[in-house]
Amino acid sequence: MAFKNPISQSAYLHVHLRALCDIPFAAEIADHVGAKAASERLVGSEHLAEARCNLGAWTEQRYLALSKCALPYRQIVELGAGFSPRGIDFAQRGVRYLETDLADIVAAKKATVEWVAARTPGAGPVLPVPEFCAVDARDLDGLFAFRSGYFDRQKLAIINEGLLVYLAREDKQNLARGIHRYLSGRLGGGVWIMADVNTWRQEEILQKLASGFIGNVAKATRQRLQDIYFESFEEAHDLFSDAGFNIKKIPRAKLISTDDLRSPTGGELVRELLELGQIWILSV
Ligand SMILES: C[S@@+](CC[C@H](N)C(=O)[O-])C[C@H]1O[C@@H](n2cnc3c(N)ncnc32)[C@H](O)[C@@H]1O
Repeated sequence: MAFKNPISQSAYLHVHLRALCDIPFAAEIADHVGAKAASERLVGSEHLAEARCNLGAWTEQRYLALSKCALPYRQIVELGAGFSPRGIDFAQRGVRYLETDLADIVAAKKATVEWVAARTPGAGPVLPVPEFCAVDARDLDGLFAFRSGYFDRQKLAIINEGLLVYLAREDKQNLARGIHRYLSGRLGGGVWIMADVNTWRQEEILQKLASGFIGNVAKATRQRLQDIYFESFEEAHDLFSDAGFNIKKIPRAKLISTDDLRSPTGGELVRELLELGQIWILSV
């Protein structure tokens, strides 16, 4: 499928990498959107195989850790949700879940989720599915105009993984200020939970583990490397605290141990990558 914005092609990679794990709905979604073929076209089959072997655990751990932190919330907005299966999984558990992404991804995802829901055995006549809303994370008016009537006064969790790397520094700052303003003004309040703070040390390791994959993704999505990584966790901390947030950082390895992962976790560098990952919980 051709997307208007080349960035959206990145959505195939994660769903493909997760399809081997036992994450609910990942394999069905990957199958329906043709994630393997699309990912091979994007990065080349050799590089994809290397990434599956070396980066599978990293994407699996990131997904599971973010899900674990989001689990206590009954209302969730996911930004840049791509083809992630979390929305349908959580909606099934009764969570009010709104998925957002760029317009053409949202259209493809909605059709896919409806297709998966209709084919899920034992789901009953209607499987609860998430709501969808096309929103550019750089457009805060659009972002916060979303379905205001959809949520009630309980706490809201806004979550994302793999989105901030596609936003320039100024867009990250605007997003942070906008989310802070929005959550501060909400009667029920809320939190922003993200798995998106990556530093140059992580980049160095990713390059060593799967340089062809990382390079080809950046080329295909026209990413600028200076946008992806923070110089350090301190630099990221300053950006979010300047926006007004209180910040709690939880190592992903504390949330999800290597024993919980289905993907290969051997090798010093893979282990270092798993140790470095964090979930940031930002409160107002
Ligand atoms: C690497 S994918 C991650 C998808 C998903 N979060 C996951 O983990 O499977 C990045 C996603 O961010 C979306 N994205 C990139 N820039 C965006 C923007 N400005 N506004 C909204 N979504 C954006 C892309 O379309 C894509 O779906």
